[in-house]
Amino acid sequence: MARLVRHDAMGPIEIPPQGKSVWVCACGLSQNLPYCDGSHKTCRQEETDDSKVYVYDDERMNVVDTQDA
Ligand code: FES
Repeated sequence: MARLVRHDAMGPIEIPPQGKSVWVCACGLSQNLPYCDGSHKTCRQEETDDSKVYVYDDERMNVVDTQDA
């Protein structure tokens, strides 16, 4: 599986040293980038066989299209 999400940032976001673990979003769906906010649970609806690309809306909350990979 793959997904398309729209990013418009033009540079990095600093994560200063923390005294505890910091979870950085790797799925692209967080509403609080660069941090994970649990939105990756939405990915559970995606098939995991790499046959489709999932296109999400600008709010990164809903799949608006699926395409063959
Ligand atoms: S990994 Fe993206 S929201 Fe958790």
